Order: sequence, then C-alpha cells, then structure tokens
Amino acid sequence: MTARILDGKAIAEKVREDIAQKAAQLIAQGTTPCLAVILVGSDPASAVYVRNKVAACEKAGFRSLKFEYAADVAPEVVFGKIAELNADASVHGILVQLPLPPQFDADKVLEAVSAEKDVDGFHAENFGMLLQGRESFYPCTPWGVMKMLEVSGVEVQGKDAVVIGRSNIVGKPMAVMLLTAGATVTVCHSKTKDLAGHVKRADIVVAAIGKPRFVTADMIKPGAVVIDVGVNRLPDGKLCGDVDFAGASEVASLITPVPGGVGPMTITMLLGNTLLSAQRAAARG
Ligand code: GUN
Repeated sequence: MTARILDGKAIAEKVREDIAQKAAQLIAQGTTPCLAVILVGSDPASAVYVRNKVAACEKAGFRSLKFEYAADVAPEVVFGKIAELNADASVHGILVQLPLPPQFDADKVLEAVSAEKDVDGFHAENFGMLLQGRESFYPCTPWGVMKMLEVSGVEVQGKDAVVIGRSNIVGKPMAVMLLTAGATVTVCHSKTKDLAGHVKRADIVVAAIGKPRFVTADMIKPGAVVIDVGVNRLPDGKLCGDVDFAGASEVASLITPVPGGVGPMTITMLLGNTLLSAQRAAARG
C-alpha cells in the first residue's frame, strides 16, 4: 500500500482564505482582529515562528503587534506588558512564545494572559473547558490535526487512536480532542512498556514525541492514518518528523509529511482563534 499524502499546506491555505473572508466582514463592521505576540530571548526557531505568525496575520488582514525582550529581561517587565495588553480592548489575542528563559515560571506567565485572549489555548481555564467538552480556545496544533482529519474525511468516531507524547501543548489536548470526537484513545510516552504494540493496534497514530523517525513502518497497522507532529533538525540541517516517512508511507493509508503537514495548520488555527476572539469581543459590544 502506498499512502495518500495529507497536504497540510493546501488545507491550511483553504482554511486561511475562509478566515480572511470572515475577518473582512468583521473589519467592515468596525472590528479588526488583532494578535499581540511576545518574544523573549533570541532562540532562532522561536524568532522564525514569531515572524511567520506576524506575517500570517498581515496576510489575513489582521493587525499584529510584536514585543521583543532580551533574554535577561526582568519577569515584571513582561508581566506588565501582559497586563497592559489584557486591558487593551483593541487586542483580541495574546501569545507568549515558548520556551521562556529560566528566570520565568512559564505556567505563571500563561496564567497571566486573560483566558478571553488566550488564543494559544494554554491557560488552565481553557484547558479545563476543553477537558469538559465545553467551548474554549483549543490549542492550535492538536486543533489543526483535528481539522486535517475532518477535511480529509477521516472518521474518528469508534476508531482506536494512539497519541505518542504527553506534553501540555500537543499530546494531552490531542488525546482529549480525539476522545471527545469518539475515538478510543491510548496515550504513549517515554515510559510506556511495549509502545510498538500499542501503536500497532491503532487506526489513527499521532506522533508528537520529538524523536526523529521514531515511528517505523513495522510499528504501523496496515491502512492506518499517520499524523506526524514532530519537527526535528537533523545534523545535515534538514527537517524530519517523528515518523520514518519513507517506510511508513508504504504501510499507512494516509500520512502527513514533514515539512508541509501539520506545521502550516498550527498558525492557521492561531488565526482561527484570534478571529473567534475578535468575533466574541464584537458580539459583547
Ligand atoms: N512554542 C512552540 N510551539 C508553540 C506554540 O504553539 N505557542 C507558543 N506560544 N509557543 C510555542
């Protein structure tokens, strides 16, 4: 079997067109969606992510604000900026790029962002709402995976799904979203006994463990849907995912590449959350 490739770039483009259209309607009614991004330090990957987020906002017709601080900035300065942005009615989304330097308690920073403007979906209140199956801001990467499955017609209800990885950003919310959609979900991680055995039983595999080519063809059930959230930099500078794409695509029915799979969906869903926040603000008046 040779898998069909799930083209995240093409799906992201379509979803972004729809978002831009809805943003134009909102702008015509007097509300311009606005995302504020805070970047602390000089991590090169974070700088690229932030640049891409700002560029995506502009392309969709949103306003964007960028605040950059040196790695040794005092936490109070950043907390002060978050408080200012929380109080600014023209700002609909606030995103603090992670990771933060060691003088920061990341949980405290994420909690400082108003839950109403938490377009990353990382605030404990939004995470709790997600867990209860209530409306909130959903974390962008797992929400992007759900959108890809929906657009490509993958039935989730009743399926056995395995999520590899248990991070707050991807693994845990991914498992909850699949569960809410009716899958039977197993979460595997670095301490799991017989990880390969669990993966082998899965109709849907989501790999988010951060280890290059960790999931190999022999671990995959023939015909499974394989979603690769990993972005790993190889010694030669090339990017690769958590799945051995060449081997796995011979066994799976549907597979995402890296790059060009889940990656473009993350920023798309960030735009979606920012639009949603602006729509909610406009409805509140
Ligand atoms: N660092 C890596 N991924 C993310 C993300 O989705 N949001 C934020 N804020 N930081 C990140």
